[in-house]
Amino acid sequence: MPQIIDGKAISTAIKEELKIEVGKLKEEHIHICLAVIQVGNDPASSVYVGNKKKACAYIGIDSQSYELPEETTQEELLKLIRDLNEKKEVNGILVQLPLPKHIDEDEVIRAIDPKKDVDGFHPQSVGALCIGQPGFVSCTPAGIIQLLKRSGIEIAAKECVVIGRSNIVGKPMALLLLRENGTVTVAHSRTKDLKEVTKRADILIVAVGRPKMITKEYVKEGAVVIDVGIHRNENNKLCGDVDYDDVASVCSAITPVPGGVGPMTIAMLMHNCVEAGKAQ
Ligand code: GUN
Repeated sequence: MPQIIDGKAISTAIKEELKIEVGKLKEEHIHICLAVIQVGNDPASSVYVGNKKKACAYIGIDSQSYELPEETTQEELLKLIRDLNEKKEVNGILVQLPLPKHIDEDEVIRAIDPKKDVDGFHPQSVGALCIGQPGFVSCTPAGIIQLLKRSGIEIAAKECVVIGRSNIVGKPMALLLLRENGTVTVAHSRTKDLKEVTKRADILIVAVGRPKMITKEYVKEGAVVIDVGIHRNENNKLCGDVDYDDVASVCSAITPVPGGVGPMTIAMLMHNCVEAGKAQ
């Protein structure tokens, strides 16, 4: 039986630590506030936004909610962001993605003041990560580093393979593993002989976006496997990009879906909000 990396427990521990820290900041009259913007009413986005606001309330972070109609124009959204950039009481700004097709996501992300970029998506935040300078880090990959560290898994000198090269997960994940002194390979849809590459991994991070694609044929005996995917299968059950039962028979540690990477994203968002509040 592999070690099951319990994202629910680890995220709860982080939230408890943050709750104490936020309580102490309040005694110094420092209040932290996150502005959450959602455009349209995509049901999945509404669930994510609701969970983010709930986490804020639990930890003691104020949240301001901006629920804008689907028809909101780019200019209207940019104006709201500029206003929030100026608002002293707002420490973090989160624009839930994806945005409606008529809005240019990159321009919206660029409009957020990097000091309030708690998602870590602004080019300045990504650039800072790339050259080892302080800045906000994308929450899902930052959460994965916490999962590994708090589970006693050493990263330094390990062969780390990341499958997926998205701006939100794959690329920042590779940079963070490198920062932890891992030897990092990024595989993607154009990688030749993916199995040959993934079988080298001591730590395999899977963010491919295809249900149960990674079976034990892709995994070295004793590897640590982190599953970023989340899908609903034909029976309405949640599953990841990793075929859990199959891979569990060969790996040394694995994250479940649900209860692995998912809860960590919000915990790290809360962490970034607290850091934003302290810095401002
Ligand atoms: N949509 C899916 N994941 C995320 C995330 O981490 N942040 C934002 N803003 N939108 C998302």
